[in-house]
Amino acid sequence: MIVDLKTEILPAGQAAVAAAARTLGSGGLVAFPTETVYGLGADAAHAEAITRLYQAKGRPAFNPLISHVGDLAAAQRIAQFNATALALAEAFWPGPLTLVLPKTPRCPVADLATAGLDTVAVRVPAHPVARDILRTFGGAVVAPSANLSGHVSPTTAAHVQSDLAGRIDLIVDGGPVQVGVESTIVGCFDAPMLLRPGGVPRDAIERVLGRALMKPPEDPEADNGQPLAPGMLASHYAPRTPVRLNAVSLEPGEALLAFGPAALAGINGAAAVMNLSERRDLTEAATNLFGYLRALDEKRADAIAVMPIPDDGLGEAINDRLRRAAVPQT
Ligand code: TXA
Ligand code: MG
Repeated sequence: MIVDLKTEILPAGQAAVAAAARTLGSGGLVAFPTETVYGLGADAAHAEAITRLYQAKGRPAFNPLISHVGDLAAAQRIAQFNATALALAEAFWPGPLTLVLPKTPRCPVADLATAGLDTVAVRVPAHPVARDILRTFGGAVVAPSANLSGHVSPTTAAHVQSDLAGRIDLIVDGGPVQVGVESTIVGCFDAPMLLRPGGVPRDAIERVLGRALMKPPEDPEADNGQPLAPGMLASHYAPRTPVRLNAVSLEPGEALLAFGPAALAGINGAAAVMNLSERRDLTEAATNLFGYLRALDEKRADAIAVMPIPDDGLGEAINDRLRRAAVPQT
């Protein structure tokens, strides 16, 4: 059951960081900015806090969480790094990359946070506020995106508030985030595997590794019944309004999520128009994606029509999130 908590909102700064560390230390739930999206943090070693976190988000407990730490040394107390993992950590940490690795024998992360897997997802975020909180708190912090499960990820404190007010203890407001899509997740298995496209583009990772990333198996239970990417549910990141992809013209009553010059047939009858990036810049489009989806969702249009977006660079992560947003919800 969700208790009706009083959710405090503090502007980022010393007082907020101290309050965040204190709240985490006593098993509370704190939303804070990372460079990708806002995260909902709990002490990774505190099983009860993690139970509350799953409840607050309405998240299924089979979907494990990412442990956030301050640096590589802290990550190595949790996870066993092979050569691939070390190369990737060196190249991209701090930053929007999550590595899935075998747990260390004395891994302090609660089993509940890893959904009983023998692997753990770990990342060192780059956002200064996230880093201050991790340094002051001292331990690992599990942090899924700070939205209700299945909903669009939050890129501002106001998004967090609209999903989670009354369900969590504290929101640290550090302004809008930079990257706008979640971290890229790489499974550092015998052959490194792209489990989720995200803020670090695939080609940057492949350049460091000198090889192509594997695709996860089609059957999500392929690895002896252990899901490799358990969180990749088909419908996710979803606004309430239906989403129509690859729109080349607009139907009456539809809202438009544009990319590049938007001269579509029917645009004059649009319920609303927002442009991810008029100059076709995929970095700018990623930053705007979730906020614009939330804003268009408020227009109560018949559908949100989305113009085609190229699949290179950050486009792979953008198109992944849009495909999930377009899966009809049950
Ligand atoms: O950018 C991000 O990664 C954000 C910010 C807050 O850091 N966090 C985030 O967390 O996106 P979340 O919970 O929304 O997504 C975590 C993903 C899920 O798809 C989950 O299934 C996957 O990581 N995951 C966690 N542990 C895993 C494991 N041991 N093996 C495979 N996938 C794992
Ligand atoms: Mg999420």
